Amino acid sequence: MANTTNPFYYGNEVYKDDFCNRIDELKELKQDVYSGLNVFLYAPRRFGKTSLLKRLQNDLKKDGDVVVVYFDMFTVSSVDEFIQKYFNLLANSFESSTDKILNLFKNIFKIRPNITMNISSNSDLSYGLLLNKKEEQHNFEDILNLPYLYAEKFNKKVVVIFDEFQEVEQLKIEKKPRSIIQTHSRSVSYLFSGSKKSILTKMFNDKDRAFYKSVKHLKIDEIKEAEWIEFISKKFTKSDKSIEQNLIKKCFEITLGYPYYMQQLMYFIWNNTKDKADETIVQNSIDLMLERESDIYSLVWTNLTPNQKSTLKYIVQKNGESLYSNENLSDLKLSASTLKSVLESLIKKDIIDKKNDKYYLIDPFMKYWLENV
Ligand SMILES: Nc1ncnc2c1ncn2[C@@H]1O[C@H](COP(=O)(O)OP(=O)(O)O)[C@@H](O)[C@H]1O
Ligand SMILES: [Mg+2]
Repeated sequence: MANTTNPFYYGNEVYKDDFCNRIDELKELKQDVYSGLNVFLYAPRRFGKTSLLKRLQNDLKKDGDVVVVYFDMFTVSSVDEFIQKYFNLLANSFESSTDKILNLFKNIFKIRPNITMNISSNSDLSYGLLLNKKEEQHNFEDILNLPYLYAEKFNKKVVVIFDEFQEVEQLKIEKKPRSIIQTHSRSVSYLFSGSKKSILTKMFNDKDRAFYKSVKHLKIDEIKEAEWIEFISKKFTKSDKSIEQNLIKKCFEITLGYPYYMQQLMYFIWNNTKDKADETIVQNSIDLMLERESDIYSLVWTNLTPNQKSTLKYIVQKNGESLYSNENLSDLKLSASTLKSVLESLIKKDIIDKKNDKYYLIDPFMKYWLENV
């Protein structure tokens, strides 16, 4: 009987067989953390940052002697919550048994927080740290210093990954982590990852801001066509179906290799294919994907000003090129200076970006939706 489990997946991070390539990025990241560098990794949402970081975490753990702490900051909304969650993660990464953790904090770190223990339904232990209001400032620094103290004491390498790091901005605590992290030298390596380029660029590039020039910048690209072809063909074959290379290439042209969209499109194509994928199936799947994504695009669209809307369509029409030429500008009916500020506002909203002198939509698939509004 044919295999009925769809071999493609889109949504949250992917592991193992669902994870395609990223060999160079992993190699580079590993080298960086072993050298004790701090790294800032940017890519748009749903591009595979978390998948890459979790893979790195796994690989490093296999190497042994490295303690990896992965902190998803997406839902952190207060400094208190930051401290609590960070402490929990550190405690659980340092030691595996409750006794050892309590011992560690009492005897080695000389912090005596009130520790509350919770056992969740899947029997994971979590440790809560109760702060005395007066001591909050003091404790915050102590917690931030824990990775370093641990690394020095046990002569281990510690890697701390902050995913969706842009969320720290609303907490207004950037300066403190920066000044403390700076003293952690090579024994602790920090990875900052995020998807809001406008916020992150300011944080890491603005010389008045705390993280200026303190970290190496690493941008991850889309997954290349040849890698997708291998990944996708194998998954079809393994499940007793097939897809020709030229069809995969067509999908790549549309998604530009954007991981989430490649997987989503293949998910639909595989579902609609009995034995062998064809042009019609591919086209129907693209339409279906457009339909599924349109809620998100509509939401973005309704929050734009009329000038932003017309400029976005203009970018698609002109393929992002020569936007300031007189001929093109007369089509748009905006002055050059207005266009400039509208483009800037769209960059700030993380909807478009610019490479060399060409503007493009950060979400490559949105273009097809825009052609129909
Ligand atoms: N290396 C990869 N190989 C295959 N698919 C991937 C890869 N990375 C990401 N994806 C696809 O993108 C989706 C989102 O990945 P995720 O890691 O959550 O992105 P991000 O953290 O950048 O938002 C995954 O569900 C998967 O479909
Ligand atoms: Mg993520």
